[in-house]
Amino acid sequence: MKTLYIGVNKGGVGKSTITCQLALYARSQGYKVLVVDLDDQANATNCLHRSGKVTPLSKTVTEVLMQNVAIVPDGSGFNILAADGHLNNVLVEQARVKVEVDNVQTEKSSIAHQNFASFLAAMDEHFDLCIIDGPPSLDIRVTIALTLADAVLSPIELAQESIEGMSNTLYGQRGVLNIKSLFNQDLQFLGFVPNMVQSTAQQRNAFTELNERIGQHFFTNNEGVVALIPLRSAISECQKQGVSIADITKSNTMARTTWTGLRKIFDLIFERMGLEEQSLEEQSLNNQSDPIKTGTDN
Ligand SMILES: Nc1ncnc2c1ncn2[C@@H]1O[C@H](COP(=O)(O)OP(=O)(O)OP(=O)(O)O)[C@@H](O)[C@H]1O
Ligand SMILES: [Mg+2]
Repeated sequence: MKTLYIGVNKGGVGKSTITCQLALYARSQGYKVLVVDLDDQANATNCLHRSGKVTPLSKTVTEVLMQNVAIVPDGSGFNILAADGHLNNVLVEQARVKVEVDNVQTEKSSIAHQNFASFLAAMDEHFDLCIIDGPPSLDIRVTIALTLADAVLSPIELAQESIEGMSNTLYGQRGVLNIKSLFNQDLQFLGFVPNMVQSTAQQRNAFTELNERIGQHFFTNNEGVVALIPLRSAISECQKQGVSIADITKSNTMARTTWTGLRKIFDLIFERMGLEEQSLEEQSLNNQSDPIKTGTDN
């Protein structure tokens, strides 16, 4: 199982939207997908619940982090560790410490961290991809997720003031680069993805400025072009209804164009995470052990 953390130190930039749309797409491509909702607002939980395609695991995210619970997924291949609205009070308030290196170390040695590590280890054989929807703030949840994830993707808005959240996300004590160097050398920062992009002079100027200051950390395609997600009502509508944008492309021309671009970004994420190879390896292993699939008993 590969684990992708969708997180950035900023609210309302599309973390939950990307989590849900990527999860729905990954499942449609045959991957077994687990979503973890680390945000008490439960936006990903609610959206995926509305989709009717995802089954919640038998325990919630607070129960998993605070108790060492055993969970067996239902085998549907599409599950969510749902938010329950209690995580902030139970975990984050308890762990409200001044952030210095030692405290990141303390967070890494916390019971919550150990419980989450055991949970992910137990889920490993059941899923191909785990997507973690992060909270808008930098707190213990971020340390826990970053120490255990394989990759991170950070949506941002093209605005001059985004630089602060981007810097914290990368260089803060609970930032990707610090956690990577201290605890998780293999952590891959996929990059910042500008979301809700509009072709206004303001956004163009912001892009130029951000690109100058932190450009090497943008998520780029294989030609080196920065991947952008446009502002589209189809995206927010789909998110509201809990459907994949792919599912409305037949009746909505605008959505079709949006989906073509978004799908390329999603495919690149799978590629960068080495997910395609993993899935193909598993398929070939399954085929070897299953005579019906290989056709040897016909
Ligand atoms: N590309 C887009 N085009 C149009 N609307 C979008 C797009 N991306 C996200 N939205 C909308 O913007 C709002 C915020 O998105 P979302 O909830 O995914 O952000 P978030 O980063 O998870 O927020 P929070 O920090 O509160 O968890 C939602 O209403 C969502 O539908
Ligand atoms: Mg969210």
